[in-house]
Amino acid sequence: MKLHRRWEKTGWQAKAPAPPGSKPFGGKVGQALSPATPAIRFLLSQLLMLLALGAAAIVTGNDSGTPAAPREGVQPSAPERLEAPPPPFSEGLFPCSNCHAAMTPNRTRRALTEMHTDIVLKHDETHRWCLDCHDATNRDFLHLASGERVAFTESYLLCGQCHGEKLRDWRAGVHGRRIGNWNGAKEYLLCVHCHNPHQPHFRALAPKPAPKRPVRPAE
Ligand code: HEC
Ligand code: HEC
Ligand code: HEC
Ligand code: HEC
Repeated sequence: MKLHRRWEKTGWQAKAPAPPGSKPFGGKVGQALSPATPAIRFLLSQLLMLLALGAAAIVTGNDSGTPAAPREGVQPSAPERLEAPPPPFSEGLFPCSNCHAAMTPNRTRRALTEMHTDIVLKHDETHRWCLDCHDATNRDFLHLASGERVAFTESYLLCGQCHGEKLRDWRAGVHGRRIGNWNGAKEYLLCVHCHNPHQPHFRALAPKPAPKRPVRPAE
């Protein structure tokens, strides 16, 4: 357990981009690999120092008895620009303000009869209703619990308020799907490309019959 945490810590330190001056470990790596470095012997001495520093980091790491620092390795150190295909709206529905700008918001929990009759909320519906997610005054936006508006292109921020672990996994590429470069531009699919925000449960698949054993002509 402890060993594991130490490994994570050093692993993170080795990967993190070095803020200028703050991390001798990262700094030395940059220096040692710089093409301007003249002699191999110098390089070796640098490497040795590196190892020593690494060992020191392991020895001092996380044993101080103070509460552990937030696990920074989990979040990207710089906010990554998330590219995703446009939200999967039904045709002709967006911008919502085309109709809603002229309408008074109706907060009553009800079965919709005039419009959006296809939407039946089955997503923690005993605690929630439409305008807990959709902005009442500007229908072209969603909103967080704080009231902060969120564009439909960033609807994952809304989902992440309650499914924080999934959002974290998604950002890291563990949940959902992303394509692009390992260490460069990536394209994500929004949560709503796979999950219907109004009925997010996947329907259970009906089990198919077991495959039939092929009959061999010789038998
Ligand atoms: C859990 C949050 C949440 C709740 C509650 C919610 N919605 Fe949504 N709704 C969303 C998100 C997110 C989208 C965006 C989907 C997308 O990007 O295509 C959306 C999309 C829509 C759309 C566009 C659908 C389409 O086919 O393009 C309509 C209309 C809508 N919601 C109406 C409603 C109504 C009416 C209710 C209440 C019965 C409701 N929503 C409740 C999150 C929510
Ligand atoms: C063509 C007009 C039209 C468009 C476009 C439209 N709506 Fe609506 N919307 C309505 C009508 C009409 C109602 C009231 C339905 C009822 O009460 O039966 C409604 C009701 C709602 C409600 C329930 C709360 C309320 O204020 O009545 C939500 C939430 C909602 N719409 C979200 C959206 C979103 C999100 C979009 C865009 C993705 C959208 N609508 C686009 C006409 C529209
Ligand atoms: C305000 C809190 C809240 C928000 C915001 C929210 N959810 Fe949920 N979600 C829940 C709760 C609570 C449940 C479990 C109860 C239920 O399924 O009705 C749930 C269930 C789910 C499930 C089903 C899990 C299962 O076990 O099958 C999925 C998938 C999901 N949400 C995805 C989303 C997505 C995608 C968004 C953003 C559009 C979102 N949620 C926004 C609270 C939230
Ligand atoms: C590429 C499609 C895809 C994307 C994008 C995606 N998911 Fe999922 N999600 C899935 C699948 C598939 C499952 C597994 C369903 C199962 O196991 O029954 C799942 C499961 C879940 C569950 C239920 C997990 C559980 O443990 O029961 C939640 C909650 C959820 N996703 C939330 C999200 C949120 C939030 C986002 C965006 C940040 C997101 N998903 C993005 C496909 C996706």
